[in-house]
Amino acid sequence: MDLNCIQQIKLKAKENFVPIVRDETLNAMLGILKEKQPTRILEIGTAVGYSALNMLAVCNADVVTIEKNEQRFEEACNNFAEAGCTGRIKPILGDAIEVLETLVKGSERFDFVFLDGPKGQYIKYLPFILKLLTENGVIFADNVGLLGLVADSGKVNHKNRTMVRNMQQFLQQVTTDVNLETQVFDVDDGYAIIKLKQKNDRK
Ligand SMILES: C[S@@+](CC[C@H](N)C(=O)[O-])C[C@H]1O[C@@H](n2cnc3c(N)ncnc32)[C@H](O)[C@@H]1O
Repeated sequence: MDLNCIQQIKLKAKENFVPIVRDETLNAMLGILKEKQPTRILEIGTAVGYSALNMLAVCNADVVTIEKNEQRFEEACNNFAEAGCTGRIKPILGDAIEVLETLVKGSERFDFVFLDGPKGQYIKYLPFILKLLTENGVIFADNVGLLGLVADSGKVNHKNRTMVRNMQQFLQQVTTDVNLETQVFDVDDGYAIIKLKQKNDRK
């Protein structure tokens, strides 16, 4: 993997205000991937492929990644081709909820999920992701702090109210489900590491 190519993608994303994972959060996630060495990763929210390429660089897994925005999807596909890793990555253009439904119907399995799509939808995606996740599989969920709004929802304006409420529900669910082991980190915009301890009747 050409690390220089990844740096160029990062610079261009920043120039064009494309939201990409922050450095400290990325390093935490890559640390887990290096140790865990998953075989199959699902990413929700490709953007232009920056995080996907970083993930491919540290482990031998294949990646399935979902993006709704057509322009970003095309740029990501070009970036994957330029990085020479089209054989290990399957980019899917579509709405994550519909793609998740299809993956579940197809009995697909993943041992690592990077949840980085629309923040108000994490709670809706969770039951699908839990069906797709193998035992001991890990979900890495980014932006769970929503710039401090999750901790201090007194400041939330009308526009963000549902998103914040949904994220609070997501965190409540992943921290109270006895089949999950969850740690929430107040780093960058907040991230959560959620491990599926055992499969139950979700199948
Ligand atoms: C934070 S960005 C992803 C950043 C990327 N993971 C990275 O770090 O390089 C979130 C992406 O999710 C996409 N997105 C938003 N709603 C979506 C949906 N319903 N289904 C799939 N992707 C969606 C956005 O277009 C955006 O590119």
